[in-house]
Amino acid sequence: MQVRSRALRAWSDEQALAGRARAAPDTTNPPLDAMRTERYGRVAIALHWLIGLALLGQIAFGFLLDDIAPRNTPARAGVINLHKSLGIVLGLLIVVRLAWRLTHRPPAWPSSMPAWQQRAARLGHLALYACMLVMPLSGYIGSNFSKYGVKLFGLTLHPWGPPLPSVYAFFNGLHDVTAWLFVALIAGHVMAALKHALVTRDGVFSSIWPKAPS
Ligand code: HEM
Ligand code: HEM
Repeated sequence: MQVRSRALRAWSDEQALAGRARAAPDTTNPPLDAMRTERYGRVAIALHWLIGLALLGQIAFGFLLDDIAPRNTPARAGVINLHKSLGIVLGLLIVVRLAWRLTHRPPAWPSSMPAWQQRAARLGHLALYACMLVMPLSGYIGSNFSKYGVKLFGLTLHPWGPPLPSVYAFFNGLHDVTAWLFVALIAGHVMAALKHALVTRDGVFSSIWPKAPS
């Protein structure tokens, strides 16, 4: 720890000497020992990218439902049930991911990352996990208060709730609002990730990027 802070102090002295520190703190290329060298585990990396990409597809699918199969057309039921089935599979994968996360510590933040950014990242990740849970749950619970229930890849799962339009509308509204919040959080997340990859280059991006076997 002491070695780290000494390295950081030396680094900022160097920046000050170069006359850059006061004008605009330059955080490019921090010294090696202020970088994140530890990586996420292989399972965490696989789950992050598999679920992340699938979620982007499922969100786009959700927003395009009315264009792909407009309401009151014969195609509607099949397309909605495909969205529900994929959503349930994704929900199960998300439970696996959460269980993995709760039993495996993520790599520590690089010491060059300011405390407020660490707090923001922690909050952002928590909010992303919350959206990952609320999306499939609100869809599934809502569907059980409509007369249609769910056809899981053709297998009829009879609704366990009575058809209650107000309850359905509540969960449907939650599904919709959370989807927009999720999109905003993902946009912020990707921008922060790109900043780590291209500007600060502090090892955060590479810690979750799949590495070719050496
Ligand atoms: C739907 C899409 C995505 C979701 C829901 C998502 C979610 C998450 C979550 C929850 C974490 C925290 C992992 C943990 O420590 O528990 C994480 C880490 C990370 N993600 Fe994503 N992610 C998505 C897409 C992306 C994309 C497209 C990129 C790159 C452009 C990216 C880059 C990263 C990076 C660099 C980290 C490591 C951050 C750190 O340890 O501080 N993610 N992601
Ligand atoms: C991670 C999983 C899921 C994601 C990311 C997701 C995403 C979305 C999005 C973005 C929409 C469009 C929102 C709108 O314009 O109102 C939508 C609509 C919908 N979703 Fe999901 N969904 C997921 C899981 C589920 C599940 C598991 C179900 C049911 C079992 C479901 C049922 C529905 C229904 C019925 C609609 C259409 C609502 C309407 O009639 O306008 N979704 N979903």
